[in-house]
Amino acid sequence: MTPRYPLLLLALLTILAPATASGQTTADDGPGVVSVDLGQEGKPISADLHGIFFEDLNFAADGGLYAELVENRSFEFSSADRRGWDALTGWKLVERDGGRGEVVVEANQPLHSNNPHYAVLGVVNGEGEVGVENGGYHGLAVTEGDAYDFSVFARQVAGAGGPLVVLLESAAGDELARLELAAPSGAWTKLSGELAPNATVDDARLVVLSRGVGRVALDMISLFPRDTFHGRKNGLRKDLAQAIADLEPKFVRFPGGCLVHGDGLDNMYRWQDTIGPVHERRSQRNIWRYHQSLGLGYFEYFQFCEDIGAKPVPVVPAGVCCQNAGASVTRKWGQGQRGIPLDEMPAYTEEVLDLIEFANGPADSRWGAKRAAMGHPEPFGLEYLGVGNEDHITPEFEERFRQIHDAVTAAHPEIVVIGTVGPAPDGPDYEEGWRIANQLKVAMVDEHYYRPPNWFHDNLQRYDSYDRARSAVYLGEYAAHDDRRRRTLRAALAEAAYLTHLERNADIVRLASYAPLLGKIGHTQWDPNLIYFTNREVRLTPSYHVQRMFSNTSGDIYLACESELPLSVVRDSGSGQVFLKLVNATDADRRLSLELAGWETFASAARVKTLAPAADGPPLPRESTLDLSDAIDYTAPASSLTVIELSR
Ligand code: AHR
Repeated sequence: MTPRYPLLLLALLTILAPATASGQTTADDGPGVVSVDLGQEGKPISADLHGIFFEDLNFAADGGLYAELVENRSFEFSSADRRGWDALTGWKLVERDGGRGEVVVEANQPLHSNNPHYAVLGVVNGEGEVGVENGGYHGLAVTEGDAYDFSVFARQVAGAGGPLVVLLESAAGDELARLELAAPSGAWTKLSGELAPNATVDDARLVVLSRGVGRVALDMISLFPRDTFHGRKNGLRKDLAQAIADLEPKFVRFPGGCLVHGDGLDNMYRWQDTIGPVHERRSQRNIWRYHQSLGLGYFEYFQFCEDIGAKPVPVVPAGVCCQNAGASVTRKWGQGQRGIPLDEMPAYTEEVLDLIEFANGPADSRWGAKRAAMGHPEPFGLEYLGVGNEDHITPEFEERFRQIHDAVTAAHPEIVVIGTVGPAPDGPDYEEGWRIANQLKVAMVDEHYYRPPNWFHDNLQRYDSYDRARSAVYLGEYAAHDDRRRRTLRAALAEAAYLTHLERNADIVRLASYAPLLGKIGHTQWDPNLIYFTNREVRLTPSYHVQRMFSNTSGDIYLACESELPLSVVRDSGSGQVFLKLVNATDADRRLSLELAGWETFASAARVKTLAPAADGPPLPRESTLDLSDAIDYTAPASSLTVIELSR
């Protein structure tokens, strides 16, 4: 453990002032001192420290970031996803003006074997209108004048049939947009067109009508806003993706979380099921009790990483499913782990190697060719690979992890393999995970912890004592959980204080990501999350502002510094900028004297961003300037994070 705060000052403060719950003092018997030599060489740290962790939890992907507006487009929902659901969940039969018909689900001549079910709409008489309608994921929000791309795979099964008519309607039945498509033929054919609504509505419905008596098969009924993030087809919701991009994450860990190791061996996230044409992907049950369309799959994840300048950190199952699998049905909580049979492990290990080829292999390699066929002949530049997610560290886990680890490091020494040390910052899984990491010399291990704010304040020296000769650390999931898991500034400041400690130790803690990232308001399975959203809005939390303030001012050199408050100072060698981050988690303002040796080599006006309680609403970062040519006094407001940016 390396003390960072001057011992004499600490001793004095302990005598003069009572400690608050966060371990900081509230006394103001004279300014505290913040001192740093800005000209020092400093310590190299990871430039990748600040990243994000994305998992399809809380409708983060389907119904969230993935811009598809139609729920259950492929008629693959079932009661395995959620009790009461079936292949027609989300859909209703439409019979208007005397029209009579029925809708059933069939599977005898599917569009693709991975996508077995489809709807068959039977139009019984030649009157009125018969069709199906869909109200989207918790509503279907459309905006006046925007273009929406509709598409459907259709096949006339019996009867003469007729053209398909596609409508966007308001809940009150007003027509918002109309599109007429050719009559389907006897073979599966993709039909598509544009809808441009004449009003902005949050509860629209998409209606597909068939004109003409007969039976028509429909599958992959899809509606996308044309204006996706970076204009990608099969793309991402622009406002949500932008909120993520604004974090300037240096990496993205995906696709989970518990979602990766899955609710049983048959529910593991298998990356090859998620690439290629979307109608050929094998969608499946989501461990968080809904359905994964897998429209946001590995290609889209890699592409998103590239679009936002972040390194991909995919996680594959370590050959075992989640220890909590099937917990509510047959097994005891924590005892549901099962391993892929050992005779199947060579094939599974090959599958992991194939992922590396899909990401990095030449366009004429087997898996590189699949990437190229999807429109990306250049490699994605994969550097990191997570193997396992906070697994129970059992002999079964160890045997399978070892096989995968050894195969990947032998074939791809350039890839940093990230192992796992369980779901907690200590305890048997943590100890065992580290034992294996030490034995195998795993390049990096993934630690997880969700703890109360005080835990973070109390552990500000955790990594000071980590052995630098051992595996590096990825803090893959962490968050301060305040009372009733509310998203408070107090929790955000505990995270901020901890981030100053992570930056100081970013020679060994090389990656860190808050968890989870996204939560759909009214439809969460986990709280708190970094970003909340509805179908129309994005709402940012105090923790989001903290993450953004740190990530937007990251560096690759740590400068030794002293302060009574949690502080970190980093330099970005590229721009030469220096960033001071200071956390006052107490409930009193704190006067400080900034002793910044060498400040003269910087522009005298420093930009300051402060996140603190606001009289007129939720805490938001506010900007000001600090004149470095004055004797520098700075008052850190009560309950605040301050970032001071020094530029050349
Ligand atoms: O981040 C939410 C969940 O927390 C993750 O899926 C899992 O890894 C952890 O238990």
